[in-house]
Amino acid sequence: MNGAETNAVGKVLIDRAAIARRVAELGREITAAYRGEPLVALSVLKGSFVFAADLLRAIDTPLAVEFIGLRSYFGSRTQTSGVVEITQDVKYPLGGRHVLVIEDIVDTGLTLDYLMKNLATRNPLSIKIAALLHKPSRAIKPIPIDFLGFEIPDAFVVGYGLDFDGRYRNLPHIAVLEPDDAQLGLFPPR
Ligand code: PRP
Repeated sequence: MNGAETNAVGKVLIDRAAIARRVAELGREITAAYRGEPLVALSVLKGSFVFAADLLRAIDTPLAVEFIGLRSYFGSRTQTSGVVEITQDVKYPLGGRHVLVIEDIVDTGLTLDYLMKNLATRNPLSIKIAALLHKPSRAIKPIPIDFLGFEIPDAFVVGYGLDFDGRYRNLPHIAVLEPDDAQLGLFPPR
């Protein structure tokens, strides 16, 4: 078996044990912040679904779970343009409840900048953000991340929900893809 046949790719940046420890800590912080308050956890599809599944089970206070689908239009090959479309909206009103947005990664910040402004028009009690990863070196729009897992360098990361061309979301850790990985043929088309 070689790398093209398995899902192994890149170098491990954050292993599954480190993710689990940090997610448990974030769960405790979020529990303390919202205990007794009406809370909606809003998972941003697709990338956040793995993080959300683990984080929600580390939060010990009643909450509702909603999903929102966003599509970012790319201004260049690697950078979003800031033009965002809601492909799947939440099913219930957010008014009168606290909203905790769950994201896998904040890169330029353009996606969350759009989403925060959109959510604010729905009159929630508050909006906060839980993000697993943040690349501060790529920031275009400053995003206040209330509950952050890890700051990471400007590298192309996959795994634990994050994809390259639809692949690698099911890696249990965060890995860095190198340009060589593409040349080795590890990136078959979807
Ligand atoms: C990723 C991630 C964020 C966004 C962050 O989504 O889930 O939503 O990019 O980038 P930004 O800070 O530069 O705006 P992606 O567009 O890859 O879609 P996916 O979640 O469906 O994989």
